[in-house]
Amino acid sequence: MSSFLSELRRRRTFAIIAHPDAGKTTLTEKLLLFGGAIQTAGAVKSNKIKKSTVSDFMEIERQRGISVSTSVMGFEYRDLQINILDTPGHEDFAEDTYRTLTAVDSAIVVVDVAKGVEKQTEKLTQVCRMRDTPIIFFVNKLDREGKDGFELLDEIEQKLDVKVCPLSWPIGMGQRFKGVYNMYERKLVLFNPHGKQEEEASITFKDLSDPNLEKHIGESAAKILREEVEMLEAVYPAFDKNAYLNGEICPVFFGSAVNNFGVKELLDCFVDIAPTPLPRETEERLVRPEEDKFSGFVFKIFANMDPNHRNRIAFVRVCSGKFERNKNYRHIRLEREFKFPSPTMFMASKKTLLEEAYPGDVVGLYDTGNFKIGDTLTEGESLHFKGIPAFSPEQFRYVENADPLKQKQFAKGLEQLMDEGVAQMFIRESDGRRIIGTVGQLQFEVIQHRLESEYNAKCRYEPVNLHKACWITSDNLQALKTFLERRKRDIARDKDGLLVFLAETAWILQTVQENFPDVDFHFTSEV
Ligand code: G4P
Repeated sequence: MSSFLSELRRRRTFAIIAHPDAGKTTLTEKLLLFGGAIQTAGAVKSNKIKKSTVSDFMEIERQRGISVSTSVMGFEYRDLQINILDTPGHEDFAEDTYRTLTAVDSAIVVVDVAKGVEKQTEKLTQVCRMRDTPIIFFVNKLDREGKDGFELLDEIEQKLDVKVCPLSWPIGMGQRFKGVYNMYERKLVLFNPHGKQEEEASITFKDLSDPNLEKHIGESAAKILREEVEMLEAVYPAFDKNAYLNGEICPVFFGSAVNNFGVKELLDCFVDIAPTPLPRETEERLVRPEEDKFSGFVFKIFANMDPNHRNRIAFVRVCSGKFERNKNYRHIRLEREFKFPSPTMFMASKKTLLEEAYPGDVVGLYDTGNFKIGDTLTEGESLHFKGIPAFSPEQFRYVENADPLKQKQFAKGLEQLMDEGVAQMFIRESDGRRIIGTVGQLQFEVIQHRLESEYNAKCRYEPVNLHKACWITSDNLQALKTFLERRKRDIARDKDGLLVFLAETAWILQTVQENFPDVDFHFTSEV
């Protein structure tokens, strides 16, 4: 096998997603410890913005600092190169997470055993499902009392509209938590809250009717385990790797991340089954990772991390071929060649200059303002990667320049922040007013703060009564024209000039959808 192909097949690129507090940071850290990428617990900083410090901008900057340094956390395990792409810890930045999910090949979803499926678990899993991204669930905090295992599996299936396949099963929980039976490897793994996983007893049981089971977990737990496993085998399908890879079934593991329990089982199964870098759709054709020509797209931008240098870092997911330092690549949108003398790999807070990167890898490129989210780089072929949607925002405000002498700085700052994907901006056709749309409240404060500190500009917000912004298209030009005329006051353009309908209420949205059946209303911009 060529060295390119063997490098490609070594890559596993995924994200860990969870509702805040479920244990994403803790699990990430334990995985990095296994891979030897960090030596001590506590080395991975939580990128959460604590609720009590929502308007503390030092906290936001601290979070940005952590986010840039932990964008990719890579480690080697069993000869594989594993890339964990970090996602923001605060739900107001969910859109950033959605974009990161376009750059991974699979996901691990952490669920808190007591809280079950939470709001962010639902939203993020839904984004994975839109793309058939293979998912593994990790039910965390089994050292605490929580929901019954069967109840949780039902909840995951119903709320998330997925089919599950438990590959490990808890023996008790909370005070009575004895360990897990690993159905993937047919092993019993015993819990020792004070021990390290390496020291833990793991006993292989090909057959649970083995009378030795009682010796390890006691009579009543053995009886329950046998019954439950029998029931699981009757109710859930046997594990089928292809069904997992197609996003049809989701393996489930149980454990306790903070105790490093059940994590090795998860990782060992993950490296066995998780997909190698997958092909990616472009508007023109399917791009396969093994193609020899390089292609990649920008899924994340961090700007102005260093106040003395107005530079940005654009994160590019390599989709095909080999990326090389100092080689000329074509920026498709700008129709220009660029070469990158100092591409960087951000690996668990270590920054290294990189000579080459392979499909599945993420490269950080220093940029002076040429990149936007979604931009494509290739060796010349005109390609446009699909699947970097902008989601219909949920909160809206008018934004106005608050310092007439700084109009230019204001406009530039806003434009750059929008390129970075901090929020979305719509310009209303009828009066030219700018409307900022976000998923969360926090972005408004972030924009205001960053305009001041990075662009020396001031903004002011005014309330706007809006329920939703949705993109509109139609195959029937006459119908579209009529719609645009009738709803003139509610039409805007997004940053790419696409038409957007601004609906004041849910009722209005429903009515126009009924009255204009030939017009299509889209809730993501990828139409
Ligand atoms: P997040 O990134 O998903 O937001 O969650 P994070 O890992 O920060 O974990 C949230 C809290 O849950 C942390 O406690 C963490 O220690 C705890 N936790 C993680 N895994 C387990 C587990 O298996 N069992 C139990 N009982 N707790 C777990 P914290 O009090 O918020 O922070 P800390 O002071 O402990 O760091």
